[in-house]
Amino acid sequence: MSKAKTGKLGQLGLMKGGPSCISQRQRLPAGFSVRDGELEDLSGIIRIVNSKNNRLSFGWIQKVVLADAVKHQQEEGTLSQHRLRVVIDREGRVVAFQRAYHRQDGETTLHEIGVAEDMQGTGIGTYLMDELIAACRKRGMKTLGLKTPVGMRSNTYYPRFGFKQVGTYKGRKRVLNCYKLEL
Ligand SMILES: CC(C)(COP(=O)(O)OP(=O)(O)OC[C@H]1O[C@@H](n2cnc3c(N)ncnc32)[C@H](O)[C@@H]1OP(=O)(O)O)[C@@H](O)C(=O)NCCC(=O)NCCS
Repeated sequence: MSKAKTGKLGQLGLMKGGPSCISQRQRLPAGFSVRDGELEDLSGIIRIVNSKNNRLSFGWIQKVVLADAVKHQQEEGTLSQHRLRVVIDREGRVVAFQRAYHRQDGETTLHEIGVAEDMQGTGIGTYLMDELIAACRKRGMKTLGLKTPVGMRSNTYYPRFGFKQVGTYKGRKRVLNCYKLEL
């Protein structure tokens, strides 16, 4: 184990180097669990995406794209380039999800992250971000990239994890800010 993991930083769940070196530091609230997404979770994910206040943060997400990620993940296991994770409450309700893709050029793309409106601000998003960053590092990825619409509150969220804005992208309907995290 590296010095950073055994020293004081390690006890805090942090690795040397500040926010861009975060390992898993956030716990899920009691009674909640995380696992790979399954086909039966897709309606729950779509509900999170389409809820009143979340809707504007997401682009158009097709169920077939989510289903494809599930299929690859199930067939290829940990080797899969597709990654769809869900957080479930005690009753089995999907309360959060995250979809990413490990590209062959060493960059992972975070496609979406979403938390049910009634569960926002309880640390679940941070848990999923930390988990993804740790998984990318374990896999030897070089960067984690994402895009989020200009003007949305989420622009203040990603820099917490060490993301830097690297440019903008003109989408079909709106302009998106591009962020990258060096892993
Ligand atoms: C952004 C999001 C994933 C964060 O997850 P979360 O579980 O609510 O956030 P956490 O509990 O881990 O972190 C809470 C902190 O983030 C801030 N935060 C919460 N929602 C936020 C948002 N939409 N944008 C920016 N910051 C946000 C809170 O103010 C809080 O800050 P504090 O710790 O200083 O009080 C979640 O709020 C969400 O799904 N939002 C709507 C969809 C969205 O914006 N998705 C990202 C673009 S695809």
